[in-house]
Amino acid sequence: MNVHEVVMLAMRWLHLVGACVLVGAPIFMWLVLEPAMAQIDSGIRDAMQNRIMRGWRMFLGLVILTQIVSGFYWLFEVVHIAHQPPVYQMLLGVKMLAAFVLFFLLSVLAGRAKSFEIFRRQSRRWLGVAAITALLVVFCASAMRISDAQRHHVELPTAPGVVSPALAK
Ligand code: HEM
Repeated sequence: MNVHEVVMLAMRWLHLVGACVLVGAPIFMWLVLEPAMAQIDSGIRDAMQNRIMRGWRMFLGLVILTQIVSGFYWLFEVVHIAHQPPVYQMLLGVKMLAAFVLFFLLSVLAGRAKSFEIFRRQSRRWLGVAAITALLVVFCASAMRISDAQRHHVELPTAPGVVSPALAK
């Protein structure tokens, strides 16, 4: 493996691990953590919320940074966006818009800025929006992958006497 391949592997691994976190965390908070927290006394709940969000805030910033760096690396170094068909570019546009909406929602829900208090007051609702947005991002990424794979699909030569599936149709 040469250096370029090692960097490509590292960037793809970082991007997929980041995707696991950015999809898993809002789904867990929306469907498990928030309902559980709603059952406990508000004093304890607020103390726990502050502790959880303090740790999550630091981790979230790092994950968002690596997602953007690995995503742009993949965009320019691997898929060469300029050579992709319009459907791929359209999917990428929707994906990146949804990704930044996701980054924004997760940041304001974990944040302390007074101006975004309205989001934290309805945290259950906005966590649901964040979770669905994250699922949309992965849907777009998968569709991009398929459109890219179809574009590069090469009909493999079959052994002598074996009819190629494409020809058998
Ligand atoms: C600025 C933000 C982002 C950029 C520029 C970006 C860019 C990309 C690019 C160019 C690919 C390769 C697609 C291909 O193989 O043709 C990709 C794959 C992927 N991205 Fe992102 N991405 C970003 C954010 C995200 C976020 C926030 C998530 C998840 C929440 C995500 C999830 C994925 C997944 C799962 C794949 C792999 C798809 C597959 O191979 O099937 N990305 N991304």
